[in-house]
Amino acid sequence: MSIIGIEKMEFGVEDLPACEKFMSDFGLTRLTPSEITNLPEFETLSGARVVLHNKESAELPPAFEAGPTLRRMSWGVDSPVALDALRNTLANEPGFKQIGEELECLDPNGMTLRFGVSQQREVKLEVLGINQWGDIRRVDMPSPVYEQAAPINIGHVVFFVENLKAVEAFYCEKLGFQVSDRYIDRAVFLRAQVRGGHHSIFLLQLPVNPRRGLNHVAFTVRDIHEVIGGGLAMNKQQWSTFIGPGRHPISSAYFWYVNSPTGGAFEYYTNDDFLTENWQPRELYHSLTSFTEWAIEGGLDHETRRQVKKQEAK
Ligand SMILES: [Fe+2]
Repeated sequence: MSIIGIEKMEFGVEDLPACEKFMSDFGLTRLTPSEITNLPEFETLSGARVVLHNKESAELPPAFEAGPTLRRMSWGVDSPVALDALRNTLANEPGFKQIGEELECLDPNGMTLRFGVSQQREVKLEVLGINQWGDIRRVDMPSPVYEQAAPINIGHVVFFVENLKAVEAFYCEKLGFQVSDRYIDRAVFLRAQVRGGHHSIFLLQLPVNPRRGLNHVAFTVRDIHEVIGGGLAMNKQQWSTFIGPGRHPISSAYFWYVNSPTGGAFEYYTNDDFLTENWQPRELYHSLTSFTEWAIEGGLDHETRRQVKKQEAK
């Protein structure tokens, strides 16, 4: 299938100025209003966008949970031919319509999705290697320290779902996503392309009182040092983190989550597994050890460079 990744996330928020500051602090670039719309709009290095709306805006579709949250997300496809194929596949889905050059429908979890030909740019960056035993990649060169992150793209999104089976079936059967790994009876990691990063979407059904909602949106950065530099910069700006830095054994990624005034959390991550057609999905039980190899609760303080103590948590 031809969906290549996340193109745009549109949030309905309560405190626009706080959300605008959050996006700039997070390292996204603000677009000038005339470039696209009059709404506050931000982009990653690849051109993946975050758009902020007032949550009462008539331009937004209904929300799938109360409070500020994600209201619409766009996936990019690789060609007009692929978009045509998707038009046929989605024609009978709830909420299906054509909006200009894009398609729109509802997923079974109540999220409004759009599909269009990707406008994102290829990003080429210098990334210094890691020296490991028998594999020296960095010679006469210290590893970097970052003052702030500059997210490359939007790598994945995580939703709480009410009906995991139905939502998984939609993404796999209608959109061609692949199962990467699974938490038995609870959650599934799906990737948009056969060959690609570990997951583009993670669907989580809470074991008690399942509900719909946004858990987090994740942004790819260059290396672990940029995860740390990004998180420290957010701490400096008084944004709170609930877990991280840390490392997930599933996907292998280093991560740091920051609570977002848009609802849910924003995540910096790097070093996730790259999977191919040869990957065999794993069936695992969810546990602390399968969720984190290690993690710091509450984050690091930018001044002391030590764990934020509970009573100091911002
Ligand atoms: Fe994540």
